[in-house]
Amino acid sequence: MLPAPNAMTICFAHAAYRMQDRFAARNTGIRSIEVRDRAALEGAVGQADVVVISGLWKDDLIPLAPKLRFVQSISAGVDQYGKEAFAKAGIRLASAQGANARAVSEHAISLILALARLLPEARDNQAKRHWRGMIGDLTRREDELGGKTLLVVGLGRIGGRLAQLAKAFDMKVIGIRRDPAGGAGAADEVHGLAALKAQLPRADFVALTCPLTPETTGLINAEALALMRPDAYLVNVARGRVCVEADVVAALARGQIAGAALDCTEVEPLAADSPLWAMPNVLITPHTAGETRRYEDNVLDLLMENLGRLGRGETALKNQVV
Ligand code: GLV
Repeated sequence: MLPAPNAMTICFAHAAYRMQDRFAARNTGIRSIEVRDRAALEGAVGQADVVVISGLWKDDLIPLAPKLRFVQSISAGVDQYGKEAFAKAGIRLASAQGANARAVSEHAISLILALARLLPEARDNQAKRHWRGMIGDLTRREDELGGKTLLVVGLGRIGGRLAQLAKAFDMKVIGIRRDPAGGAGAADEVHGLAALKAQLPRADFVALTCPLTPETTGLINAEALALMRPDAYLVNVARGRVCVEADVVAALARGQIAGAALDCTEVEPLAADSPLWAMPNVLITPHTAGETRRYEDNVLDLLMENLGRLGRGETALKNQVV
């Protein structure tokens, strides 16, 4: 279904990643093009048999891409692709699940540590050349993770590894996953999504590591936030739309939860006038949880594996979505 390597064109489409450089180092003999924005992509996609892409994808590219047979996603999340439109157009799709599992889980534990150790406050004080003294108020003092409870919503590859990392800090870890029969892994317990509300009041930290699906869209709404404790923190390394952002802002503003670390927001980039920017109990990272210097090569490993499978006429892809 794909042309032979010497007749194939791959289009790499990403605003920043050096996919083509890293691909060239593999000497495959396959022709490639690289584009960095949507306008260039619209001009190039008609030549492509294969597109390697993440945030630049929209399904309205399909009519512009008559040769396209395979999309290797650069992102682990695949919420931006219309699975039915792909199937209808005869385009296969594979995710980059796993490529960023280390990075995202390490980012999540970094955010948890930063919240517990008050690193954002320390950095703010540094900018003011202010040496904060020791504090008597126990509610405002740095804390330790041992014995604290982490609720991991989405015990897949990222959440599963986060559970392992949290266990190294002697945390108690409760996992939520769509299919609890998949097992607890390193977590102490695992429950289905229906048990989320019952588990939220137990958590000192609630970490979102789930994909964005119809079931997880708006999962963390006013009702869920009201079940969290006032000394608990929310950490989102999943997708902004897993939370109802206005409800998160309201809960933070009235001290219903202690704080939040957010790597993703409903609309990205976060609007300059969002109240989240200025909230003292919010730590924002700009959707960088998955970033790693190994990322391009991790995705190219998946691409090469899947090109091999398609070339041999195999039907199952690695990380197959469509
Ligand atoms: C990042 O958000 C990804 O889905 O890989």
